[in-house]
Amino acid sequence: MRIAMVGAGYVGLVSGACLSDFGHEVVCIDKDADKIEALRRGQIPIFEPGLQEVVANNVRAGRLSFSPDIKAAKGAKAIFIAVGTPTKADDGQADLTYVRAAAREIADIVNDGAVVVMKSTVPVGTGDEIEAIIADRAPLKRVSVVSNPEFLREGAAIDDFKQPDRVVIGVEDEDGRKVMREIYRPLELNQTALLFTSRRSSELIKYAANAYLAMKVAFINEISDLCEQVGGDIQDVARGVGLDNRIGYRFLNAGPGFGGSCFPKDTLALMKIAKEAGAPLRLVETLVEANENRKLAMARKIVKACGGVKGKTIAVLGLTFKPNTDDMRSAPSLTIVPVLQAEGARVVAFDPEGAKSAKELLPDIEFADGPYSCVQGADALVIITEWDAFRALDLARVKAALRQPIVVDLRNIYRREEMIALGFHYESLGRGRRGDKARRS
Ligand code: NAD
Ligand code: UGA
Repeated sequence: MRIAMVGAGYVGLVSGACLSDFGHEVVCIDKDADKIEALRRGQIPIFEPGLQEVVANNVRAGRLSFSPDIKAAKGAKAIFIAVGTPTKADDGQADLTYVRAAAREIADIVNDGAVVVMKSTVPVGTGDEIEAIIADRAPLKRVSVVSNPEFLREGAAIDDFKQPDRVVIGVEDEDGRKVMREIYRPLELNQTALLFTSRRSSELIKYAANAYLAMKVAFINEISDLCEQVGGDIQDVARGVGLDNRIGYRFLNAGPGFGGSCFPKDTLALMKIAKEAGAPLRLVETLVEANENRKLAMARKIVKACGGVKGKTIAVLGLTFKPNTDDMRSAPSLTIVPVLQAEGARVVAFDPEGAKSAKELLPDIEFADGPYSCVQGADALVIITEWDAFRALDLARVKAALRQPIVVDLRNIYRREEMIALGFHYESLGRGRRGDKARRS
């Protein structure tokens, strides 16, 4: 099938590349001409494991191409919209400027009988609006507007797209349903559930899924705080809770607060949608607030562990919002590092892939070229992102390089007993000691 993907960002590029890998003929279109030029030269603008190979293979096979011009979508049976839906600066709702512009451009070139598929995460009812835009500009064309939200995670995007837990398709007509089934036939043959729903249900599924996952993270972070107060190990608690199949163990890792391009923006957008609909979501409102507070609490935890940071050098390992991506959008480091600086610290950081984008967002930090040069002469080491490269550091070397053996591990990637035995002053998350409470009281 001929498919066009409008927007070649994280989701558009991964989806376009994977759909071409299924055997479809895909053109990825992006307004950013530099991005398209780079893609044509074989340069992938994001760090995503496995993406380079999938793109190269399909370009070589003649199934995947790139264009800055919407006219390249002419003749496509399905045109996906995968443009950004960022948070509006003033009130938290999703900004649909790019989606609406893409819909207008598509209306002018779309074929009669084609399907327009919304992959971007959009508020409930956006499909109706897109349908109206297209009907207004192209009244003689029959076009199905379908919702097909994307559930991939950055850092695991290729596997998530090719082996999803489910594919959700919100569709109001038989033509649209047929085309979508054809697009995802390779997955259906592999027993992936294709869930057909109304368009509005599908739009809501995406926000509800992200909010629920964010809530799991925010919940375990609060339980982690409680462990610190009453004694208990958050990793045992999370495992014991998560082994209940009704709950599930994934997304129960305590951390410095969730970040990324989606949980923060989508929880805010859902809050807004619900409030306007007169059905406010108190749980979501609370988790958003808890997550903001958490990031600040992490900064305070570091300051406390160091006995104040004024005039001290803090080595930070990991700046991206999670490992295996170079994405810095809403990363907890963007809250934590400026607080440390405001308290008088000099911050030296290392991130395996995030340094380039981090440099623009955190201009006042110094960058090291590896973990050991990062800790050299520092007064404390703080681990913010759990890149694999940080999981098995030569701890004797780290200790020797640090001016003071203080380690604040915001991802619990080291064992507390071992760190203490090695002579570190080690702070981690949710590992309250037996007797701590008694000692405090
Ligand atoms: P992104 O910012 O990485 O990419 C968006 C791209 O769209 C940009 O390259 C931009 O130049 C391009 N664009 C904007 N308007 C255009 C137009 N009219 N024509 C052609 N190109 C245009 O965004 P993203 O992270 O890929 O997210 C896209 C959507 O997918 C969002 O709604 C997001 O919530 C959703 N989503 C993202 C992820 C993720 O992991 N990043 C996962 C699931 C869903
Ligand atoms: C998330 C969802 O997992 C995807 O299903 C969804 O498609 C995507 O948002 C989206 O809509 O864009 P992503 O943001 O790439 O994916 O990353 P996650 O793995 O979900 O992590 C989000 C944040 O939560 C990160 O900051 C991560 O460190 C944090 N997290 C996650 C934890 O602190 N603990 C956990 O157990 C899991």
